[in-house]
Amino acid sequence: MARALVTGAAGFIGSHLTDALLADGHSVLGVDCFNDNYASADKRANLVKATDYDTFDLVIGDVVELDAARLIEPCDVVFHLAGEPGVRSSWGPRFDRYTHHNVAATQRLLEAMVDFPGKRFVYASSSSVYGDALTLPTPEDVTPRPLSPYGVTKLAAEHLCVLYAEEQDVSTVALRYFSVYGPRQRPDMAFRRFCEAIVDGNPIEVFGDGCQSRDFTFVGDIVAATRAAGEADTSPGRVFNIGGGGSVSVNRALEALAGIAGRPLDVRHSERQEGDVADTGADTSRARAELGFAPQTALQDGLAAELEWVRERPLPLPRVRSLTAS
Ligand SMILES: NC(=O)c1ccc[n+]([C@@H]2O[C@H](COP(=O)([O-])OP(=O)(O)OC[C@H]3O[C@@H](n4cnc5c(N)ncnc54)[C@H](O)[C@@H]3O)[C@@H](O)[C@H]2O)c1
Repeated sequence: MARALVTGAAGFIGSHLTDALLADGHSVLGVDCFNDNYASADKRANLVKATDYDTFDLVIGDVVELDAARLIEPCDVVFHLAGEPGVRSSWGPRFDRYTHHNVAATQRLLEAMVDFPGKRFVYASSSSVYGDALTLPTPEDVTPRPLSPYGVTKLAAEHLCVLYAEEQDVSTVALRYFSVYGPRQRPDMAFRRFCEAIVDGNPIEVFGDGCQSRDFTFVGDIVAATRAAGEADTSPGRVFNIGGGGSVSVNRALEALAGIAGRPLDVRHSERQEGDVADTGADTSRARAELGFAPQTALQDGLAAELEWVRERPLPLPRVRSLTAS
């Protein structure tokens, strides 16, 4: 039984990772500052399952402000998922939040990791580091050219992981997640907006012509890869693509959703958003070879799970037991 530190534990992906670790008998120290990128009630709801476990503790606070060494010391492995996500809102005045939550938070943790040799540090990076990649599917060793300020901050933090591995012997692994979806997906993300529009009987707004394609990755597969990275005997500073197994256009995903919903969808197109790349696709050969990663969930099944979650979603506002706040 291991003890894991999960930063961003109340978020979409962090809460799934937390649930999976707890279900397998591990203990989890979760950290989250409940920042305001979406309703904190949603984040508290993400932790409903976790709070049933005595083996779960939560620290409510900002990784940049907290004593990182005290968080890391009792844990065997660190999964660093806290961050300010979202491409579109990274333009303009919100950029400071991106440097704070993505770059400074990662630096604080890495600096503290120097005193804990042997502990693994897994960082949630992003396919956004690639921008409009010239090679599809994209292997890890192309030169990253982010197309959004968000991607720039994710890449900066990824470079910190490589730097701390090379210069300070921290055992880092960075995972470039590709378009993650599934139950609890963030409310700003496309499939969540599409599912809510279907359930509420509203038109679906698609940015651009819908021909843009993404390597959509089900959150359960992301969790499996992240856990594997926590244990794998891989060289420090390694970077891996984690994708769903193939690129699909937004229009094709909408056709699949119409099939699941059992009716035609009222789709309206609006302007393409700044920072949205044309296509993404992950070459996952490295993750297959070194992490034993193989995505298991077909888009049809993952979309059905997300639509069902949106339909059935209870809206509780549970209180979360915390080590630092009531
Ligand atoms: N969702 C995706 O498709 C995707 C793709 C690529 C990479 N990622 C990365 O995965 C991670 C998780 O993304 P998500 O979609 O679950 O987002 P999310 O917003 O649902 O979760 C992130 C959580 O981190 C917390 N947080 C942010 N800054 C913090 C700080 N300084 N201290 C403590 N807590 C903090 C937030 O309150 C939030 O609950 C992020 O780092 C994101 O950049 C996500």
